[in-house]
Amino acid sequence: MLDKLPKEVKIVEVSARDGLQNEPVTISVEDKLQFINMLELAGLKNIEVGAFVSPKWVPQMANTAELLTSLKKQEDISYPVLVPNRKGLDAAIKADVKEIAIFTAASEEFNQKNINCSITESIERFKPVIKTAIDNNILIRAYISCVIDCPYSGAIEASKVADIASTLLELGCYEISLGDTIGTATPLRVKNMLNTVINNIPVEKIAVHFHDTYGQALANILTAIEMEITTIDSAVAGLGGCPYAKGASGNVATEDVVYMLHAMGIKTGLDIEKLCHASKFICNKLNRQPTSKVALALNCQ
Ligand code: HMG
Ligand code: MG
Repeated sequence: MLDKLPKEVKIVEVSARDGLQNEPVTISVEDKLQFINMLELAGLKNIEVGAFVSPKWVPQMANTAELLTSLKKQEDISYPVLVPNRKGLDAAIKADVKEIAIFTAASEEFNQKNINCSITESIERFKPVIKTAIDNNILIRAYISCVIDCPYSGAIEASKVADIASTLLELGCYEISLGDTIGTATPLRVKNMLNTVINNIPVEKIAVHFHDTYGQALANILTAIEMEITTIDSAVAGLGGCPYAKGASGNVATEDVVYMLHAMGIKTGLDIEKLCHASKFICNKLNRQPTSKVALALNCQ
């Protein structure tokens, strides 16, 4: 088993987007900037900072443009934002964004609730978005939600995930993040799903995005890295949730992922104490406790 583990893993920090989009408290631009700065100081090189989505649908992301105006971007850090359509891309171009993340799902029902269109319609919508993004030298990451289960329609066929992943890759996305949106995945199901996707697209194009509703995310991540996946999405303090996946809890906590990886000799480039500082800062602003076991053990609450 140990032979198969990678030497290094890339963490994509999603707390400033996924982590905040479902919270009852709206975080000000000033506090978001301070939070992002703390994430930078912890060594993160991929920090998702917001979303150009409808402010009526997701009010917590409404200050994304303002945030980007004030954000002092570091050369070696990527700050992707979510973009669902042409209007979102136009806002991203205006804000001089260098990387966007488009998002669809492997479930028709979830996609309708989340972005108000079918899977096919979403792909059609993305085609000109991707083309224009490429013309503007913008990198495109893609999310597929509900890769294991859908909160509305139950279990998802892995072949559906694999087909959507190949389509998005062919259209020009550089990476496909596979989302266990409601956190019901368990290691064997993850292994089966990933085996099917890896048959369709190169393993180095795959990232995993586990929500931790049932406490299975670390086991699922270990399964993924044993299958040579080296990009993991996570959020400090275990923040996160999707407004259209009722009952789903936060993302796997970055502190917990990093603790596990470092203990196995896998490098992340991250400083766990500094991650805990960021975690503590944002939890104070949100008036809540972290769900990260490591943050609690290190007394960062
Ligand atoms: P729609 O209602 O179908 O869009 O929404 P529309 O084109 O008919 O426009 C309706 C209104 O929205 C108009 O405004 C548009 O201007 C406005 P009005 O005339 O009524 O005042 N609008 C926009 N405003 C700002 N930015 C835009 C934009 N587009 C239209 N880009 C839409 C379609 C996709 C916009 C909507 O459904 C939406 O914003 N949904 C939010 C989706 C979202 O953010 N979900 C959470 C993130 S996904 C996630 O968490 C999963 C993930 O973490 C992976 C995982 O865990 O599985 C990524
Ligand atoms: Mg998510």
